[in-house]
Amino acid sequence: MAELVKLFVNGQEVEVESGKNLIDALRVVGIEIPHFCYHPALGADGNCRMCLVGIEDGRPPLVPACKTPVQEGMKVLLDAEHIKKIQRDVLEFELINHPVDCPVCDQAGECALQDYYMNYSLDDSRMQVAQVTKGKRMDFGCGVVHDQERCVLCGRCVRFTRQITKTGELGIVNRTDAARVSIFPGKPLNNRYALNIVDICPVGAMTSSDFRFRQRVWFLKKDPGICHGCSKGCAIYIDHHREKYKDDVIYRYRARTNLNVNGYFICDDGRLSYAGENENRQTSALADGAVIGFDEGIELVRERLDRARKPLMLISPDCSLEQMWAVQRIATLYGAELSGYSDNYIIDGDGDEYLINDDKAANRRGLELLEIDFSRAQFLTGLQHTDLLVNFNNDLFFGGVDEELKSLLDKTQSIAVCSHQLQVYESASIVLPTASYSEYGGTIINEDNVLQRFEKALFKNEDPKDVLEITRLLGGAINDAPHAWPGIKQSVACLADIDPQAIPAEGIKLQNSEDTNVGA
Ligand code: SF4
Ligand code: SF4
Ligand code: FES
Repeated sequence: MAELVKLFVNGQEVEVESGKNLIDALRVVGIEIPHFCYHPALGADGNCRMCLVGIEDGRPPLVPACKTPVQEGMKVLLDAEHIKKIQRDVLEFELINHPVDCPVCDQAGECALQDYYMNYSLDDSRMQVAQVTKGKRMDFGCGVVHDQERCVLCGRCVRFTRQITKTGELGIVNRTDAARVSIFPGKPLNNRYALNIVDICPVGAMTSSDFRFRQRVWFLKKDPGICHGCSKGCAIYIDHHREKYKDDVIYRYRARTNLNVNGYFICDDGRLSYAGENENRQTSALADGAVIGFDEGIELVRERLDRARKPLMLISPDCSLEQMWAVQRIATLYGAELSGYSDNYIIDGDGDEYLINDDKAANRRGLELLEIDFSRAQFLTGLQHTDLLVNFNNDLFFGGVDEELKSLLDKTQSIAVCSHQLQVYESASIVLPTASYSEYGGTIINEDNVLQRFEKALFKNEDPKDVLEITRLLGGAINDAPHAWPGIKQSVACLADIDPQAIPAEGIKLQNSEDTNVGA
């Protein structure tokens, strides 16, 4: 834990972490210093002057908070009249040529300029001359749409492409009121993280073509979640909205800060993967292609499992640890072999040195910790000999149709417990719909051994049943995710001391997970 220092803000004593600048340190204790250009991932640029504060120790009358580290005994002034005047002056300067776009701007409701104007200014414009006009609706590539008139020239987007993606597609060209952010002629944004620019732009100058005009942000419920797009398990916000009588719909994912996992950013594929949670969902139980009641489907599955001589169960590497545990238990109950085969989730060469991983499975570490075999050899042998396959949401054709598996699947009686309508489930004689990851809670472990917990974010008119609940209906004993933990803790050494309810937002880095041992 970092050392604490005491300082005084407007005469009031506060204790904050040392080693931080005033903006970050005071934010933790609930004190906001307005700012545009500073971002913790990009550092202090000092160009906007919105963060000027007073320090009573003989320094110049005002200093930028973004460049001022906290010090023991420091006396910080935030509310003096001359500081308020500077804040109003900076806002008046920023607003000279700013279009009054708020009613049609996607950023309205989460815009720093709008909020600061309401909190620190409320002055009327004194400008008598015509506003400078600049480019609007400019396609910068990668789904980023730029509005030059709304830009406050904080430079965050430019620094993002230079410091984070190191692709440098953006620059600020010209000077004074002709200055604007631009791409280079014929060279649009071309990196797999570009939509983070939309998140970090403090105003509505960078918008996403995917989200533009689809929903007002104040209608969105913003729940923390974990991206299941690859084994990095980036922290996200799931922004969703449920209209009266309708189902909950996800409108976007945004990056959530987790310094243990993804820092401040996520990749564009993961960001846009929210659409998969809304679309192509399996919503009805089916028997030989005909819609049946869910309870009837459960009865049919039970009967077939009871009759099967050599059942084989397949679990998805995206399932939560608790779901894997519950399926492992009912596999034992029915004397079934269990596989977590998922080679198709690995896209060789797709990953990079930053966040994106070749392995698109969100919880392969969970399979490893529970010692669930995910080798091709074991699964192929099992498939050749089984008389009933029960597939728990494993998209065996994730990376493309596997012809060898397909011909075996076509010959095998199978049951699919699936959240989406996918080709791989077409050969199943019974289909049971199940929840996808935004619709249940649980834990997953990422490629770096960070155990993270996530909660159910979406609520539907007819909530799809979680895999865990389906295993209970098939005779298992686990009611919900917390009930899986006593067994998990007994079996997996590196999880023995974990309290699942006390996993912090940034997760827990597991130690010695190689020494894990699993009971019979
Ligand atoms: S587009 Fe946004 S992030 Fe980029 S300089 Fe302008 S205000 Fe800053
Ligand atoms: S890097 Fe992986 S986990 Fe992170 S946002 Fe992208 S797909 Fe999702
Ligand atoms: S945030 Fe400090 S000068 Fe911009």
